Amino acid sequence: MLGIFQPNQSFHEWPTLAPNPTEWTYKYNLATILAAEEVGMSFAFPAARWAGLPGDDIVWRGASLDTITLTAALLAATTKITLLTTIHTNLLNPVVAAKYGVGLDHIGGGRWGLNVVSGWGAHEFAAMGVELLDHKERYAYTREWLDVVEMLWSDGEATLDGKYFKINKASGRPRPLQASPLIVNAGQSYTGMRFSAENADYIFCFGDLAEKFRKVRAEVGSECGFIGAKSVILGATTAEAKDRARQIVDQADRGALRNMLVASGAESLESAQGRMVSRDEVEEYLLGDAIIASAEDAGTQLADWAATNGVDGICLNLFDYLGDLQLIGSDTIPAFEAQLAKYGKKFRRPSVPEAISESTPV
Ligand SMILES: Cc1cc2nc3c(=O)[nH]c(=O)nc-3n(C[C@H](O)[C@H](O)[C@H](O)COP(=O)(O)O)c2cc1C
Repeated sequence: MLGIFQPNQSFHEWPTLAPNPTEWTYKYNLATILAAEEVGMSFAFPAARWAGLPGDDIVWRGASLDTITLTAALLAATTKITLLTTIHTNLLNPVVAAKYGVGLDHIGGGRWGLNVVSGWGAHEFAAMGVELLDHKERYAYTREWLDVVEMLWSDGEATLDGKYFKINKASGRPRPLQASPLIVNAGQSYTGMRFSAENADYIFCFGDLAEKFRKVRAEVGSECGFIGAKSVILGATTAEAKDRARQIVDQADRGALRNMLVASGAESLESAQGRMVSRDEVEEYLLGDAIIASAEDAGTQLADWAATNGVDGICLNLFDYLGDLQLIGSDTIPAFEAQLAKYGKKFRRPSVPEAISESTPV
């Protein structure tokens, strides 16, 4: 399966002044999802952001569309692609979230899923006066939150005397069209991966962590699938792709990268300032594991990467979404499909879900 990380945030994953036609707007995201569905993408999910990170010249992700209203509109405009909604468990009561999920699943006719996130950026929550629990506890909280949501979806009612939630006969009717909407999580730490293995249908994870995740999955005897996140810088030719990659790095906003390293807890301000002086470090951060290639070569490389890492799907992070999706349809997917066949694997395209009776889940 192929899918995309939707560009619903300004500068998306690319804090750079390199010219980029991608927009975070609704109109642009609608066109992107229609194009993604048209070329054969199976899924897409948006980013949930509550604050941007200031840089030297930009505010990285300073504007973003909320994920619930966006997904609702996009589900109404599509027929085959599965759309996931990213929701922060620390920001939404689970009874409310479960109800939003039901609405989204009904609008999409059973093509909806939940990307459940526990939060990482202290800067986002401090501004709202919301406590960010410590890392391990965040996942315990999310587990209880998901218990309530799943109870409502399966039984239409929930009662839980938990550590974080006191739920007393909460009502969740109607139930979703799908017996159990898809659950995805994007934890990268051991705790996050274990949460995914125990609770999710798929983990979204950086591709080089596939082996680590397989071990965690084996520990808990889970069948959770692995979707590898992959940045792809495309051009009509390899030279064009390399030129685009060079511009991204040359015009990177180093202040934004430095502040990201600090906000994510990866580094102290002093160490982040030191690291982001070097062009090589900037390149490694932005493009370290990216595929930089002509659209056709990218298809072959993606198939090699998917087969070598045993991934079930690839979540693409693009630069010029609409332009790239055109190239992906014409050149990347045919090469991807042909190369996968050499490994005895088949590219899975999306299809309209089988009719689900709307009277069943009430
Ligand atoms: C592909 C991908 C998309 C993500 N999208 C979001 C998002 O939209 N909002 C958010 O707060 N965190 C997002 N995250 C962060 C994860 O939820 C998680 O906090 C992070 O990967 C750290 O993992 P850990 O909690 O196991 O340490 C995303 C992560 C990945 C890999």
